[in-house]
Amino acid sequence: MQTVTTIAEIRSLVAAWRAAGRRVAFVPTMGNLHAGHIHLVTEARQRADRVVASIFVNPLQFGVNEDFSAYPRTLAADQEKLAAAGCDLLFAPTEQEMYPLGRDGLSYVEVPGLSDILCGAWRPGHFRGVATVVSKLFHIVQPDVALFGEKDYQQLLVIRLMVRDLDMPVEIIGVPTVRETDGLAMSSRNGYLAAGERQLATEIHATLQALAAEVRNGAHDYPALEAAAMRHLEQAGFRPDYVSVRRAEDLAVPQGGERRLVVLAAARLGATRLIDNLLIDIS
Ligand code: PAF
Repeated sequence: MQTVTTIAEIRSLVAAWRAAGRRVAFVPTMGNLHAGHIHLVTEARQRADRVVASIFVNPLQFGVNEDFSAYPRTLAADQEKLAAAGCDLLFAPTEQEMYPLGRDGLSYVEVPGLSDILCGAWRPGHFRGVATVVSKLFHIVQPDVALFGEKDYQQLLVIRLMVRDLDMPVEIIGVPTVRETDGLAMSSRNGYLAAGERQLATEIHATLQALAAEVRNGAHDYPALEAAAMRHLEQAGFRPDYVSVRRAEDLAVPQGGERRLVVLAAARLGATRLIDNLLIDIS
C-alpha cells in the first residue's frame, strides 16, 4: 500500500486508475483504526477495483472543548492494518495541505436541519465540519463509491443529503456497526474509557436493545420510553445527552405508522462521549 500526503499525488494516482477504467472505493477516517474501520475497507474491496482510505483528524468538526489535540494519532499502526485489509492507497494529508489558508474565513458546506438536531444540537458546528471535509475529500479523491459506518448514523444521513443536494457523483454505502463481543459499538473513543467505565459502557447498547424491543412490541408513547431510557442510563452512571426514537430515513420525530425507525443515544461516561443506535424494521 502506498501512502501519499499531497492532493496533487492522490489526484494523479486516482486519475490514472480511472483512465484505465478502474472503479474506485473510498473510506474516509480520522485514523486510530479499529475492526469497524477495517470492515469498511473489506466491504470497499468487494465493491471496487481499487480502495483508497484517508486519515485526517479534521479540526473543523471538533468543538472548542472537545478532544482534537488528544485524539490518538497512530499512523504507523494504521498503515499496517490498512495494508493487511487490502487497501491500495492511503491519503494522509497535513492540516496545512487541507487548509493552507487556515481555518478562518473558509468556505463551508452546510446541511441545514439535519445538522442541528440530536448530536448537532449538542455539538454545534460539528456536522458542518464533517460535511465540509467530506466534500473536500470527495473532490480530491473523486471516488465512485464511499463507505461510512452506521454507528455514526446521523453523519451518514448528513452525507447522503449533501451528496443528493449538491449532485456529487458518489454512491454512499452505509455499513452496519461492528460491535465488541459484549455489544459495545466499536469506536476510536472507546480507548478513552477507564477499566470500570469500559464495563459500564455496554449499558448504552443494552438500553437501546430494551427500547427497540418495546417499540417492536407496539409501544407507542415514545417520549415516555425515551425518558425511562434516559433515567436508566443516569442510574447506571451515565450523563445522557439524549435517547430518541426517530424515523430512520430522515431522523424526523415519528408521526405514527412508520415502518423503519431508529433508536439513538448519546451519553457521557466520565469524560468520554459515546453514541450508538439500532435500526428497527416493523413488519
Ligand atoms: O467518521 C469519521 O471518522 C469522520 O467524521 C470523517 C467522516 C472521516 C470526517 O472527518
